[in-house]
Amino acid sequence: MTATQNKRRKLVVGNWKMHGDLSSNQRLLADIVKGLSEFNRADYVICPPTPYLFQARELLGDSKIAWGGQNVNQFEKGAFTGAVAAHMLTDLGCTYVLLGHSERRVLFHETNLTAAARFDASIKAGLTPILCVGETLAEHDAGLTEVIVASQMDAVMATLSDENFSVAMQVNMVFAYEPVWAVGTGKTATPEQAQAVHEFIRNRIARRNSEAADHVRIIYGGSIKANNAKKLFAMPDVDGGLIGGASLSAEEFIAICKAAN
Ligand code: 13P
Repeated sequence: MTATQNKRRKLVVGNWKMHGDLSSNQRLLADIVKGLSEFNRADYVICPPTPYLFQARELLGDSKIAWGGQNVNQFEKGAFTGAVAAHMLTDLGCTYVLLGHSERRVLFHETNLTAAARFDASIKAGLTPILCVGETLAEHDAGLTEVIVASQMDAVMATLSDENFSVAMQVNMVFAYEPVWAVGTGKTATPEQAQAVHEFIRNRIARRNSEAADHVRIIYGGSIKANNAKKLFAMPDVDGGLIGGASLSAEEFIAICKAAN
């Protein structure tokens, strides 16, 4: 366990992906706000689809739950049909943004380079980026987990000047380890597997800045449910979770948040 582990507040993020509509969101958000009202020892974030960020602002604005985007474009404005700029997210009160999610990488051909550019744009806009990294099943089976995770991290870290690294620290950048083989599959990494990769990520950050490494939150994502969250969150370098499917059920999500509280 690192000496400062207890200083890091746990963080639980619900990634709704492409799910929801106005009326079901309203119920889900109301239930979550009510269910989390007594939890004060961790940070909670909901990332709904972009069209519902306005609704999230309306329904979460008076709560301690933050909201964020599921992606962002690296450019500030221009002829980029379908894209969303970082300042548009902050306009809607977002404080977080997911970057480099494996679904964006695999299904939409986004790369380490776009993740790096978007990371830069996000921190400059004052958003807290949550950079997702993780290996596919084939890479996992080939023993390439650390190689892949390192390359995904280095692509972003290498483009960060020292000045921007300080900005990233100020906005409390977050890393999310999401093994692709665990996303939406019901197959969770064991707490020990997650811990090993989280420790690897933290050591990688320490190579750049050891103080930063102690403070940065590294959350785990991939088939977290109410019944496995506690053991994962108990690992010394697992600072919370990025929740997909289970964040669409108030009961499940609240139970996961409770495990982090
Ligand atoms: P699941 O929790 O559905 O496996 O999804 C994880 C994820 O991709 C969160 O970003």
